Amino acid sequence: PPARRQRRAPAAGGGPPGRRPGAARPPLRFTVAIDGPAAAGKGTIARAVAGALGFAHLDTGLLYRAVALRTLAGADPLEAAQASAAVAQEASRVAVLPDVRGALLLWQRRFARQEGGAVMDGRDVGTAVCPEAEAKLFVTASPEARARRRAAELGLGYQETLAEILARDARDEGRIAAPLRVAPDAVVLDTSELSVEEATAAALAAVRARLPDPRPA
Ligand code: C5P
Repeated sequence: PPARRQRRAPAAGGGPPGRRPGAARPPLRFTVAIDGPAAAGKGTIARAVAGALGFAHLDTGLLYRAVALRTLAGADPLEAAQASAAVAQEASRVAVLPDVRGALLLWQRRFARQEGGAVMDGRDVGTAVCPEAEAKLFVTASPEARARRRAAELGLGYQETLAEILARDARDEGRIAAPLRVAPDAVVLDTSELSVEEATAAALAAVRARLPDPRPA
């Protein structure tokens, strides 16, 4: 995946106040799993949580999109990049294949357990990739709310975007290999009626509550 998605976000304001000077903090291995359907706000929330806590971030959907790009033979790179809806549909088709999922699994697990903490957003991070994740969120919203946002973001029609989202939901929820499911220990966050700021604040509060050494807000 492109390096910019893996960059470690700088922690705000240096070390957290309230710690005894000289008290060494053990290396933190802490995984935040953020799963949910397309266009529910996972990416925005994952970037904000990673930025606030100084954790690395991985958008696992990019891995499936990268595979999909190769399978969409014939398109020039710019065209393929612009056809993001087509790539997303194709990604949910290659994501059905257990061998493809298996090939990407180990790499994702190593990313999750790196020193310094990791935030990963996708469909199966909390259920299959990292069932041991210390914090799990399931970010969702009504199909209509997701279609409205995605259509505005990409400048597409509402009806075609809604159809695209429903088709992808059906494929992601209906597949045999690591289907989209709410992990039993996940905090469910419905963003249908929330602003970006409200959704991000709720997600961050849920993650902070699970930190071994609660960092100040
Ligand atoms: O998250 P994004 O919409 O970019 O993902 C594209 C597709 O990749 C999803 O519809 C899903 O089928 C697949 N995916 C997956 N598991 C993940 C992340 C994405 O199956 N962890």
